[in-house]
Amino acid sequence: MKRNFLTVAVLALITACNSPKSIDNEMNRFVDELMGKMTLEEKIGQLNLPSIGFDVTGPILSKGVEEKIEKGLVGGVFNTYTPEAMRKLQELAITKSRLKIPLLFGYDVIHGHKTIFPIPLGLSSSWDTALIRKTARAAALEASADGLNWVFSPMVDIARDPRWGRVSEGAGEDEFLGSAVARAMVVGYQNGDIRDNSSVMACVKHFALYGAAEAGRDYNSVDMSVSKMFNHYLPPYRAAVDAGVATVMTSFNDINGIPATCNKWLLTDLLREQWGFKGVVATDYTAIAELENHGMGNRQEVAALSINAGADMDMVSEYFIDELPALVREGKVSEKTIDDACRRVLEAKYKLGLFEDPYRNVSTERAEREIMSEDKLSLSREAAIKSMVLLKNNGVLPLQKDKRVAFIGPLVKDKRNLIGNWSGAGDWKKAISVWEAIDSSTNSLYALGCNLTDDKALIDKLNPHDGQITLDSKSPQQLIDEAVQVARRADVVVAVLGEPFGMGGEAASRSNIDLLSNQKTLLRALRQTGKPIVLVLMNSRPLTLEWEDENMDAILETWYGGTMAGEAITDVLFGAAEPEGRLTMTFPRNVGQIPVYYNHKNTGRPFDENQKYTSKYLDVANTPLYSFGYGLSYTAFEISPVTLSGNIASVKVTNKGTRTGTETVQLYIRDLVGSSSRPIKQLKGFKKVTLKAGESADVAFEITTDLLSFYNAELKYVAEKGDFEVYIGNSSDTENKAKFTF
Ligand code: BGC
Repeated sequence: MKRNFLTVAVLALITACNSPKSIDNEMNRFVDELMGKMTLEEKIGQLNLPSIGFDVTGPILSKGVEEKIEKGLVGGVFNTYTPEAMRKLQELAITKSRLKIPLLFGYDVIHGHKTIFPIPLGLSSSWDTALIRKTARAAALEASADGLNWVFSPMVDIARDPRWGRVSEGAGEDEFLGSAVARAMVVGYQNGDIRDNSSVMACVKHFALYGAAEAGRDYNSVDMSVSKMFNHYLPPYRAAVDAGVATVMTSFNDINGIPATCNKWLLTDLLREQWGFKGVVATDYTAIAELENHGMGNRQEVAALSINAGADMDMVSEYFIDELPALVREGKVSEKTIDDACRRVLEAKYKLGLFEDPYRNVSTERAEREIMSEDKLSLSREAAIKSMVLLKNNGVLPLQKDKRVAFIGPLVKDKRNLIGNWSGAGDWKKAISVWEAIDSSTNSLYALGCNLTDDKALIDKLNPHDGQITLDSKSPQQLIDEAVQVARRADVVVAVLGEPFGMGGEAASRSNIDLLSNQKTLLRALRQTGKPIVLVLMNSRPLTLEWEDENMDAILETWYGGTMAGEAITDVLFGAAEPEGRLTMTFPRNVGQIPVYYNHKNTGRPFDENQKYTSKYLDVANTPLYSFGYGLSYTAFEISPVTLSGNIASVKVTNKGTRTGTETVQLYIRDLVGSSSRPIKQLKGFKKVTLKAGESADVAFEITTDLLSFYNAELKYVAEKGDFEVYIGNSSDTENKAKFTF
C-alpha cells in the first residue's frame, strides 16, 4: 500500500515524539521548570533518603520523617512497603509539601520480595542467568505491587574471602559470571523500562570493592592494585551500568585510603565520566556520617567531600539537609553541584512516571494477585533445586523410596532459616520445611539431635537481631543419644545442619568457618552407628568441610533455598530432580588458605612436589577442597578433548550415566605470555546442556578478541598477540585443553 505524504509526515512526527531524544527533551523541560521553582533547601531535600518503618541496618534511626516530607525535605524513603504504607507517605508528599514532588520508595529486595528465592550466592550457583533474571522479575512484580519503586539490589561485590558474611549476597568470586548475573538482575528488575508500573529501579552495590574488605572483617579497609580492580573487581559493577542500572550505592569501605562515599575518582571520574553513568548515586546507610570515623573531617567537611565527590543521595545521615545549605552559602559547595544531584533524583522520578501517577497504580488487589502467586512459588522451587550443589556422593543419593530414612538435625523442621538473611519482607512462616515436604508414605523418622548451637555467647549476639535460636530443654548429650537411637532404626541418615542464618550477611564475619562444634559432635556420634549419612547443609558461605568430606557418604549444599526450600530439598534427595548447581566460590580446606580462588597467578615458583623452594604450605595442600565450578550430578558426563577450528572451540558432551542430567560446560582461557603476569585460568564462557542417558551434544564457544583482552599496566583494555590455552570442562580444575596463537 502506498502511503500518502500526510501519513508519512504524521508517522515521522509520532516517531520523533517517542524517540529517546524527545523524551529527554520533555524531561529536561519538565525538570527545568520544576527546579526553577525550588528553593535551595528544597533541592537539598531531594537528596535526603531517610529510613522509615520496619528495618534498621545501622546504629542510627531516622527521626521526624513525616514532618520533613511535608516540608519538602525528603527525596525518598526506605524500609517501608505495603500499598497502604506507601500511599500514606506519598499522600503527605503530594498534598502537604509545597511543590508536591512524589517520593521514591526503596527497600532491600535481595533474593525475592515476599516469595523468597535462594540467597544470591546460591542463585549464582545455578549458572542460569535466564532463571536469575526471572527471579528478579518476579521480585519486581511483587515489590512494585507492594508500593516500592526502587530495590537495593543487585549486590555484585566480588568476594574471595568466605570469612566475610556478605558473600551470601553476591555471585561469588568470578568477574565473568558475576557480570552475567549483574546484567540478568538489572534486566529482571527494570525490564527495559522503569516507567512500566511493574518495574522497579535497580541499585547496583556496593560501589566499590566492598567484597575485598581486609581479613573478611565487615566494613574493613580495601587496599588494591588498579590491575586487580580493573581486571577482577570492577567488571560486575560496569556490567550493571552497561545494562542500564538506574542507581548505584556507594560502599562503606575506603579504597586505597579514600572512602568510597567521598571518592571523587570513583564516583565521578570512573563512574560518570569513563563509564557514562547518568543515574543517581546513593550512599550506603549513614556512610556520610561514618566518614568522620574514617578520619575525613567534621560534619561539614564530610558532607562537602561527599557531594563534591559525586554522591547524590544521603542515606540516613542527614548531613546533606543539615549542612549543605550553609556550605553552599559559604561557597564550599557550588549551587551547580546541588542542581546536578537534584536533577538526577528528579529525572529518576520522571522516568518512573511518578509525576504522572505517584501511586503507580498500586492497590491491595494488585498486591494480592502478585504476591506469592503460584507461578512465583514454583519458580522459587525451581531456583532452589537448580542452586543446590552436590559436593560428594558415594552412590547413597538419590535415596530409594523403600529405605527407612532418619531425618536428624535442628534444620529438619525449621522454617526461619530456610529464607536466609536479607529476606526482609519474606514471611518465614510460609516457608515449607524439609519435614513438611517429606512424603508421608516414606515412613521417615525424626530426631532433633542437637541445638543449632550451644554457644551462649554466639546466641547472645544473634538473638537480639531476630536470631530465633532456642535451646532444647534436653541436654546436648540426651539429644545425641536420642538421635543415635533413631539412626539405628533407619537404613540411612539425612543430617540437616548448617549455620544459623544470622551468621551470614551484614556484620556477620567469622574467623572459623567450620560447621559449629556441637553439630560436628552430633555427626561424629551418628558416624559411630555405621549407617550411611547424607549431610544436607544450609549456610551463607563456603565452609571448611575436610572432616565431613572424609566421613560423610554424601554432602548436598542447599544454601538457604527460600520459601520452597523444603520441597526442593526433598525433590533432590529422593531423585525427583537433579542437583545441577556448580560452586561459584571456592571451598577452602582450612581458613589459613584464604584467600584461595581459582584465577590466581602462577608465581615464579609454582608448586612442585619435588622441589623445596616452591610456593606452598607445609601443613596443607595448595588446592582447595572444592573448586570453583565444581559440583556433581546424579548422572556422569564425559567431555571430549577440545577441538579448535578458526576461533571456535568445541567439545562433545556425553551423558554416560543412567538418568537425564544437566552439565554446566565451562570455558576457561589462559594467556600464556603477557605484558603483565596473567591468571592461570579465567572463566570466559559457560553453557548448560541437558542430556538424556546416552545422549551427546556438541558444545561450542566463539573465542572473541574481547575474551582475550585485559587491562594492562597502563589500564588499556587490550588483547595481546601470543599463545593462549583454551580449557573446556566441568570445573575450574579441568585440564582438558588446546593451544592456539592469537
Ligand atoms: C547495607 C546495604 C543496604 C542498606 C539499606 C546497609 O547497611 O550495607 O546493603 O542496602 O543498609 O538497608
